[in-house]
Amino acid sequence: MIEGDDGRRGPGARVAEPRPIPAHVGIIMDGNGRWAAARGLPRLEGHRRGVDALRAAVKSASDLGVRYLTVYSFSSENWTRPIEEVTDLMGLLKRFIRKDLADLHRNGVRVRIIGERVRLMPDIRALLDEAEILTAANDGLVLVVAFNYGSRQEIAGAMRRIAEGVASGAIDPATIGPDTVSTHLDTAGIPDPDLIIRTSGEQRLSNFLMWQAAYAEFVFLPCHWPDFDRTAMEAALEAYTARDRRFGGIRPAELERKVKTAL
Ligand code: IPE
Ligand code: IPE
Ligand code: MG
Repeated sequence: MIEGDDGRRGPGARVAEPRPIPAHVGIIMDGNGRWAAARGLPRLEGHRRGVDALRAAVKSASDLGVRYLTVYSFSSENWTRPIEEVTDLMGLLKRFIRKDLADLHRNGVRVRIIGERVRLMPDIRALLDEAEILTAANDGLVLVVAFNYGSRQEIAGAMRRIAEGVASGAIDPATIGPDTVSTHLDTAGIPDPDLIIRTSGEQRLSNFLMWQAAYAEFVFLPCHWPDFDRTAMEAALEAYTARDRRFGGIRPAELERKVKTAL
């Protein structure tokens, strides 16, 4: 079912040590159009159902103890879609914030927006600002909405700000390292994603969190985004739990064996 699962589950399998669930989950919510096409419905209906799935995903992530949930809702490249679809997607975002913000706030969710905001329509910018300001002091799930977001644009923006810092004398070029880049990205202060889920079978990042995903685990699900439910979230988290994250090092068990051999 879950591609990329390393298959260590099942009878007789080595039982992996229980691991904490991912602190930060990123989701590439893909397949709304195909979900609709398969039912002979307009793409807008797929996007509408996608918003329902998003609502449910926020709830299940929060219930399951995820601290940060980043959802890819509109990419820098999605502007190339027909104007009608872009308009529909903008309308859905506005409706989502207007309708759901109070509920999110009541549930202690803190909303953060990443992506380019300057060239968005003023009414959308105002709503995005309002969502961040209203929920800024909440200490529940952090819902990061990637809207008009693209990793390359984000990294270029960070480079620009670092270059400005160098030009003004605020940054010494000799001190520039990975942390300098991280702290100049839109995601400054947000830990890197532990797990990235993509629905609908595609196995690509499509310009999503490329810098931040350096050591993320990936789970690709065949279902289309409107069909993503709590069971799918649990399955993705379970696949994550079974993974062996090594961050370029070696597992403690291997380390122990090496020490014993050396003695
Ligand atoms: C994801 O579904 C929503 C957005 C990208 C905004 P798609 O609209 O990409 O659906 P497919 O991939 O065409 O099926
Ligand atoms: C990625 O999906 C963007 C979002 C989910 C918002 P796309 O459907 O735009 O990606 P591609 O075009 O298949 O790579
Ligand atoms: Mg798509």
